[in-house]
This record gives sequence, structure tokens and C-alpha cells, in this order.
Amino acid sequence: MNTEMIHSSGEGYTAQDAAQDIQTICNEFREYNTIDTDLYNIYPVARGLRNADGTGVVAGLTQICNVHGYVMDEGEKSPVEGALSYRGVDINDLVNGCIQENRYGYEETAWLLLVGKLPTKQQLETMRNLMTLYEELPDSFAEDVLMKTPSRQLMVQLARGVLGLCFYDDNPDDLSVENQMRQSMQVISRLPNIMVTAYQIKRRFWDKESMYFHQPLPEYSIAQNILRMLRADTQFTEEEARLLDICMTLHAEHGGGNNSTFATRVLSSSGTDLYCSLAAGIGSLKGPRHGGANKKVREMVGYIKEGVSRWDNDGEIKDFLYKLMKKEAGDRSGLIYGMGHAVYTKSDPRAVILKRNARKLAMDKGFYDDFALLESIERLTPEVFASQGNHKVICANVDLYSGLVYEMLGIPDELHTPLFAVARSAGWCAHRIEEITCGGRLIRPAYKAVLHKQPYTPLDQR
Ligand code: COA
Repeated sequence: MNTEMIHSSGEGYTAQDAAQDIQTICNEFREYNTIDTDLYNIYPVARGLRNADGTGVVAGLTQICNVHGYVMDEGEKSPVEGALSYRGVDINDLVNGCIQENRYGYEETAWLLLVGKLPTKQQLETMRNLMTLYEELPDSFAEDVLMKTPSRQLMVQLARGVLGLCFYDDNPDDLSVENQMRQSMQVISRLPNIMVTAYQIKRRFWDKESMYFHQPLPEYSIAQNILRMLRADTQFTEEEARLLDICMTLHAEHGGGNNSTFATRVLSSSGTDLYCSLAAGIGSLKGPRHGGANKKVREMVGYIKEGVSRWDNDGEIKDFLYKLMKKEAGDRSGLIYGMGHAVYTKSDPRAVILKRNARKLAMDKGFYDDFALLESIERLTPEVFASQGNHKVICANVDLYSGLVYEMLGIPDELHTPLFAVARSAGWCAHRIEEITCGGRLIRPAYKAVLHKQPYTPLDQR
């Protein structure tokens, strides 16, 4: 280690000195902190909590959701069309049922996830009453929790908003089902308001635009109120609100193993409060390999539009997808966002439903070229993927089309991931309650230590 680089005196120590020292520390860190990837083959480590065949390690039992994307055939993973059910109800039936019966579906989906059965008419009325009663933010919440430090990091604002609710809860730590259910209903109803309020504050402070705080209406669904609160004139069409409601229903839940739900379950298993466990879920969802992918898809589409001269030319798009995978274009991550899934192989049922609905809106709103470009990415990626020697069966995931849908609804890019979080709060809460009532064990996996012994050396001899 080059100790010369470390500035020894505290006096006159500047930010520039600090930056230099951090660089030196990182150089030393790199020298001592690599784990040989071969070790993952030597020791029985389920890296990323995956088995050798790519399937997830089974970490628990759940009655909340089933995500089905392959069958095991003679010990091998065999791809099938994806299926998703909430509490045993097929997602297609849930979405189609609400469309046919001319009803918004997110509230009843949240009830289904939390309670375990579809609500009766009267129970749905109770759910709406609870949402209306609880959606109002506590007095001075916006000023004290959100306005003091306006931020462009809306996912972090959302997490802070959830943590902030803890300060206004007289009984945050009680793990009884009654208390968890009350807290869950409150958070599900308040998150849309927290998201829009944080966004309005950001508009005023960072974008120098007007901010407006429209009161949610009791007769409106959550999807309707989000559009009402977001828009300056509070106006929206029924078709727009229905599509947002479908998006929220599709994003409401996705099994116990997805990163953010597992994070929520891990924290819940320690017996911590609901606010801390949900803040962990939001933090996880922010990542580009998870919920943050919807924003990344929009960014990637921007790169493709710049990089190809004709959006309808398969050859040009394929060439660009190769470049993305080879880290020669885009954000250089090597990922084609909106494609691939840990469980789904042939299809992601959420993407199928969203695509069907997005197509119609794209035609009506003059976004058909954008829609067609996404379809080309979906069609061409498996070929590009296979040509790179990757034999994983890959399909479009929900995030490929969700960003375009939100854009067509006039929802700004920066709210795409927060909207996912708002919708997923229902699933997180359901899993949290299940972890507390049925899990019963601190989630605590192990790490195999592969470190070398080193002696303690007195400071003046190092
Ligand atoms: N683009 C490029 N490469 C991809 C890819 C994609 N969309 N999806 C998977 N891969 C690659 C991985 O990098 C990995 O390569 P490696 O073996 O050389 O490291 C290989 O395929 C297997 O991937 P793995 O991470 O085991 O698959 P997974 O099932 O865990 O991955 C995702 C699932 C979602 C993380 C992955 O498909 C991905 O990153 N997709 C893009 C981000 C995205 O859209 N996320 C939203 C998910 S809903």
C-alpha cells in the first residue's frame, strides 16, 4: 500500500484530498478483495440463491401467488408458456373479469392478496371505505417528511415516505394480524398520495414548474385518483384510468422469491415493523435488474432510435441488439432490458396482457411506431441471444411494454418505477403478514468463508 498517498493531517484537509484518498483506498481494496469465480464451483454455493440448473432455491412456502414458467422433465428444465395466479385465481381471469364486469380491479386484487379470497360486493365496499378513510396523509406529513429535502430520487422519497409514516403510528411494533392489517391498508391507500406529492415537490424545486396538490376523490378508484392528482387539470378518460388499473393489477404481486418481496420477507422475519420492511422492498425494486428495468427500457429504446436509421428494419435492429449485448452500445451493461426472467421462459403472462392493451392505445394515441419497435425487440432478441451462445429461453417481461403504456398515459419516466412500487405494496404486505404468521423463523442463510488467516500486527509495525 502506498501510505504516502494518505493525507495524515486533519488540518486543511480538503474535498480534493478526500477524493484522492478514496481512490487510494479503492486501489488497496481491489488488491485484497476478489473472490475467484472457480470457488463457486468448488463449494456448494447457491449463487444468487439459484440451483445449478438456474431454478431458484426453495426458501419457503406461500399461499399468496404462483409464478409458473417451466416444468422439470427428467431433471431438466423444460420451457412452457408462463402462468400467474394470485391466491389461485388466474391473472387473466382476474383482469378479464373486472373488464367484463366494468369495474376497477386493483382494490379487489389487494383484498384478494391480503385476505385470501375474492371480496364479496359488501367486502369490496368495505375495502373502498378503508382506502378512502386512510388515504389522507397525516397532518404536516408532506411538509415534515417530503418537503424539507426535495429530491429527484423519487424511489428514495417513497421509501422515506413509508418510513415517515412510522412516526405517525401510535402502535408501530405490534405484530398482531389486526395491527398488520390496519397498517397494510393504510400504506396501500397512502402510497399513491406520497408518490404524487413527492413528484409535485420535485417539479417545483428541481424543474421550476408549478406544483399542485389535488385532493383525491372518495368515489374514485386508486387508478383514477393517481391520474387526477398527477394532472394539472385533474382530467383523464375512462380508458386511460382502466389501463392504469390493469397495470397496477398486473404489478400487484409476483411470488415470494422476487428480490423486493424476498427482501420484505427477510426483514419481516426479524420481527421489525412494517415500515422498515416495506422500505427495504422499495429499495430493492429501485434496482435496474428489478423494477428499475421499466425506466431502463425507455432509455434503451432511446439509444436504439438514435442508433438505427429505420425502426422497421430487422437487420439494423438486430445489429444494435448485438451491440447492446456486447456492451458496445446503450448503458454498456450487456443487458437487453425488458427481456428475460428468472422464472418465465416462453412467455410472461403480464407482458402478454399488457401488450394486448398497449396495442390498442398505441393506435389511438399515435404511438404505433414505438409499439412496433418494442415488438421487434421482443421478436429479435431470442435470436440474438442464442447466437451469443446463451441457450436460456428468453421472452419479453412485463417491463418491456409497461414504460410505453405509462408514456401514453402521460406519466413521466421518473414515475414509472415508483408506480410499480405503489402497486406492489399490496403483494409486499400480504407476504409480510404471511411471513409473520406462518414463516416463524428468522431468515438467515450462510456464507462460506474463503478468507485467509492473517496475524494481528501492532500499529507501529505495519
Ligand atoms: N440481456 C442480456 N443478457 C441477459 C438478459 C438480457 N435481458 N437476461 C439474461 N441474460 C444473461 C445473463 O447476463 C446471464 O449471462 P451470464 O451467464 O453470462 O452471466 C445469463 O443470461 C443468465 O442470466 P441469469 O441472470 O441467470 O438469468 P436470470 O433468470 O437470473 O435473469 C433477469 C433474470 C431478469 C435478471 C435478466 O433476464 C435481466 O437482467 N433482464 C434484463 C433486466 C430486466 O428486464 N429486468 C426486469 C425483470 S421483470
